[in-house]
Amino acid sequence: MIIAQISDTHIALDSPDADQRIRDFARTIADINALDPTPDVIVHTGDIVHNGRRDEYAQAVAILSKARAPVYVLAGNKDNRANLREAFSAYGYLTPHSDFVDYAIEDYPVRLIALDTLSSSSNKGDFCAERVRRLIDLIDAETSKPIAVFTHHPPFEVTVGPDRLHFETSEIMSRLRRALQHTGRVIAVFSGHVHRAAEGDIGSIPATVVPCIATTLRKGEYPPHMKMCPVYHVHRFDPLWGFATETRIVGAGPPAVNHVDVSPSIALATSIIL
Ligand SMILES: [Fe+2]
Repeated sequence: MIIAQISDTHIALDSPDADQRIRDFARTIADINALDPTPDVIVHTGDIVHNGRRDEYAQAVAILSKARAPVYVLAGNKDNRANLREAFSAYGYLTPHSDFVDYAIEDYPVRLIALDTLSSSSNKGDFCAERVRRLIDLIDAETSKPIAVFTHHPPFEVTVGPDRLHFETSEIMSRLRRALQHTGRVIAVFSGHVHRAAEGDIGSIPATVVPCIATTLRKGEYPPHMKMCPVYHVHRFDPLWGFATETRIVGAGPPAVNHVDVSPSIALATSIIL
């Protein structure tokens, strides 16, 4: 099983770098489409848009509609749960009328569990007792397959960058970490939010953070020729070894193989790379 993980596209239609964010997102989807073999799924770990607006989601949905693989999305702190749910309702996996954007996908050798770590009061993560209960229920709903869990906020201390803790308190993060270790079936945790690559663990569970797709918002040191290249992760599952993660760099390739048509002012070219 192959999972392409993307994160933090931060689509914003009226920021100075709006076109670049759209271009980064579209080029990444084109690059994923060109992978051989094609990934089984694409998971977007949140901050799909920057202001939670419907028109921003319309742009994101238009870009994701070009994806060959099924797409699953999480909510990040910049997302708006109601508008996200409305925009992606046709995909069928988001529970309507739920307080949280969390769900399990059962169609693959590895179960995929997406969590909602949004806080109502800050950009940091939250995980209340209700969400712990929901996670335990999702984990226990099937007992034969390994599980990959996706979160926006990483549930481990990130030792690069200025802030190690991406939850409101260490107690909240510990609550989530305990729930993830509720059985031995969670074999990997994949997150976003930090805008730079990071690795950690939850007990014996390996965990990674994928850099953000929006190159103008990415943190960390990149050589000049990579500054405009989006970066994403390809997670390949082996039943014996678990997941191996490859960092994929979207380069500057031949122009214009695709167009994203939402409004004339933001129709942009897409490149296939490498
Ligand atoms: Fe975020």
